[in-house]
Amino acid sequence: MRNISDRTALITGGAARVGRAITLALAGAGARVAVHYNHSAKAAQEAVARAQALGAEAQAFQADLADPQATRALAAAVQARFGGVDVLVHAASPFVRASLVETTLEMWRQAMGVLAESFLLLAQALAPGMIARGEGAIVAILDRGVFDPWPKYLSHSVGKSALWALARSLAVELAPQVRVNGVVPGPVLPPPGFPQAHVQRLAEGTLLGRWGSPQDVADAVLYLVRADYVTGEVLFVDGGERWTHRR
Ligand SMILES: NC(=O)c1ccc[n+]([C@@H]2O[C@H](COP(=O)([O-])OP(=O)(O)OC[C@H]3O[C@@H](n4cnc5c(N)ncnc54)[C@H](OP(=O)(O)O)[C@@H]3O)[C@@H](O)[C@H]2O)c1
Repeated sequence: MRNISDRTALITGGAARVGRAITLALAGAGARVAVHYNHSAKAAQEAVARAQALGAEAQAFQADLADPQATRALAAAVQARFGGVDVLVHAASPFVRASLVETTLEMWRQAMGVLAESFLLLAQALAPGMIARGEGAIVAILDRGVFDPWPKYLSHSVGKSALWALARSLAVELAPQVRVNGVVPGPVLPPPGFPQAHVQRLAEGTLLGRWGSPQDVADAVLYLVRADYVTGEVLFVDGGERWTHRR
C-alpha cells in the first residue's frame, strides 16, 4: 500500500456529507487536502478546520464545476497553492431528478458538465503532473445508476455512466504512473428530508439489511488511493444491494 503522507489530494464536493468523510480520511492518512465546494462555503471551512486538527495542510476552493472556465481555474489554483496534485477524488454530483420528457437541455448539461466534463478537464490539468512525478491516483465516485439505470434519473445515470467510461479510459491511457478506479456507494446517507419509509425500504433492499455510512465510502476511497496494484477497478460499497434480485 502506498503511503500518502506528503501527497496532495483534491476532493471535489469534499466539504459536506460523503465528500467530507473522504476529505477527512485522506487528511487522516497524512495527505494535504484541497477541499472543493460550490455552495457549501461554511461546511468547507469546517472541513478544513477538521483536517487541520488531524495535522493536515488544508484549504478550501470554490468552483461551479458546470462551468469549464471555473473548473480549469480550480485546477490551476490548487496546483499553484500546493505545487501539484497527486490524488483526485471526484465526488461532486448534482442529483438531477427528471424523466425523459421532463429533462431540459439545461438539466442534461448540468449533469454531464459536473459529472463527466469537469472530470475530463481536471484530469487533463492534473494528470501530466502526476505522470511527471511518477505516480498518481484518481477515484471517481459513481452510483448504481451506471449499472442498473433508474427511471426518472436519466441525466444522472448517463452522467455517472460517462464518468465511469472516462475513468476506465483514463486507467488505460494514464498507466503505469496513474491508477484510476471507481467506487459505487449504495445507500450510505439519505438526502435531507428523505422520507423515513424510503429509508426503511432502501435498507431492506440490501443483503445486509441496513444503510452504510459515509465512512464506509471513505474507507474504500482510501483503499483505492493506496492500493498499488489496482487500476481500472470498481468497488461496490452497497451492502450487497445489487444482488437482492436473487433473494
Ligand atoms: N449519499 C448516498 O447514499 C450516495 C449513494 C450513491 C452514490 N453517492 C455518490 O456519492 C457522492 C457523495 O454523495 P452525497 O450524498 O454526499 O452527495 P450530495 O450531497 O448530493 O452532493 C455532493 C456535492 O456535489 C457538489 N455539487 C453539486 N453540483 C455542483 C456543481 N455544479 N459544481 C460543484 N459542485 C457541485 C455539492 O457541493 P456544494 O454543497 O458545495 O454546493 C455537494 O456537496 C456523490 O457523487 C453521489 O452521487 C451517494
